[in-house]
Amino acid sequence: MCRVYGNVFPPIPLLKQKMNHSITMSQEQIACLLANAFFCTFPRRNSRKQEYANYPDIHLFRLFEGSSPKKIEKLKTLFCYFRRVTEKQPTGLVTFTRQSLTRFPEWESSAKQLTKLHITCEGTIEDQGYGMLQVDFANRMVGGGVTGNGLVQEEIRFMINPELIVARLFTEAMDNNECLVVTGTEQYSKYTGYAESYRWAGNHKDEIPRDDWQRKCTEIVAIDALKFKNFLDQFQPEKINRELNKAYCGFVRPGVRSDNLPAVATGNWGCGVFLGDSRLKALLQILVAAEVGRDVAYFTFGDADLMRDVHKMHSFLTERNVTVGTVYRLLMQYYSTVCEPCSSSRPDVSLYAFIYDCVCSSAASLDSDSAAARPDVPADFR
Ligand SMILES: *[C@@H]1O[C@H](CO)[C@@H](O)[C@H](O)[C@H]1NC(C)=O
Repeated sequence: MCRVYGNVFPPIPLLKQKMNHSITMSQEQIACLLANAFFCTFPRRNSRKQEYANYPDIHLFRLFEGSSPKKIEKLKTLFCYFRRVTEKQPTGLVTFTRQSLTRFPEWESSAKQLTKLHITCEGTIEDQGYGMLQVDFANRMVGGGVTGNGLVQEEIRFMINPELIVARLFTEAMDNNECLVVTGTEQYSKYTGYAESYRWAGNHKDEIPRDDWQRKCTEIVAIDALKFKNFLDQFQPEKINRELNKAYCGFVRPGVRSDNLPAVATGNWGCGVFLGDSRLKALLQILVAAEVGRDVAYFTFGDADLMRDVHKMHSFLTERNVTVGTVYRLLMQYYSTVCEPCSSSRPDVSLYAFIYDCVCSSAASLDSDSAAARPDVPADFR
C-alpha cells in the first residue's frame, strides 16, 4: 500500500506561509502517510528544533506514553481508522488548500445587511453541517494537541476524520491572515463526550456523497482564534480586527459568487481555554458571514441561554436593518467607553446591553422620544 511519495514521486510540497496553494492526494496516500506518522518514520520530524520548527508535530509517539484515559480513547479511534482503511481501501481524494489573503474589508464602512441565522443548542457541526462550510476551532498549528493530550473541538474532529491529521505534515503555522480549507475527508468513528469524557463509540459509516473529484462533500476550514489572558483584551480594536479578518479569510472564497456559497456551520470559536466571549464571537462571525453573503448555522453546544441571547440580538439587528459597519462602530465604541475605562476584570455593561441601548437611543433621538422608556430594548437587557 505504501508506494507513494518515495523514490519515484517528487516530495510533497509544503503549504508555507504567504502562499495560496492546494494539495490533492488520494485517501490511500493519506492512509500510508498516517501509517508513517503512527510509526514515527518521517525524517527530521522528531523535534521541532530544526527546519520544521514552525510546523505541527506529525509523529504520534506522545499518544503511546503515560496512562491517560484520553489517549487510550484516541488510540481506539485511530485503530478504528487503520482497521477500516486496511480492510477496504478508500478510493476518494482529499484537497488541502492554504488561503493567504492580502486584502480585507473596510469593516467600518460596510453597508452589508445581516444574512440568515439558524441557531440551536442541540446537535453538532459534524452531524448537522452537511453541505455547509464546517468550522474547525483551530490552533495556529493545525490539529492543535491531536498528537498529544488535546481533545476538544479541533482534536475530536481530527480523530473522527483522521485524514485531517496529515495536514500537519505539510502545513506551516497559520499567520493572522491565513486559513486552511480541507475538502473530502471521511468520518470513520463515532464518539460521545468531550475532553475528559470523550469516548470512542464505534465505527461510523460516512454516507456523505462524493463530488466530481471523488471527494466527500465535507468542507472544513481551520481558523485559529486568539488566545486571551484577560477577558477585556478581546474588545481592543486590533483584536476585533484580527478576529474579523481571520474569520473573513475562512469564510470568503475569492472568485466565487456569494449566492453559490453554502452557509457556515460554526459555534463557540475560541471560547474555551482561549477565553473568548461567546457572545462577542457569535456576533463577529455573524458580521463576517454577512460580509461574504453566507448564512450561518450556529451550534451553542448545549448552551440554551447563549442560543436565546444571540437569536434575540440577530433578530433585533435584522429588524432594524443595522449594517455590518454600524455594529462594527458600536464594538469600537464599546471598547472606548466601557472596556478601556474599566478598572475590574469584567465590564460593567455587557456588550449586548450596550448595543441594544445605543441602537434604541439613536432611534429614539431621531423621533425625539424620551430615552427613559425604551420599549424596544428586550426586557432581559434593560
Ligand atoms: C491569494 O489569493 C487572493 C485572492 O485571489 C489574493 O488577493 C492574495 O493576494 C493571494 N495571496 C498571496 C500571498 O499571493
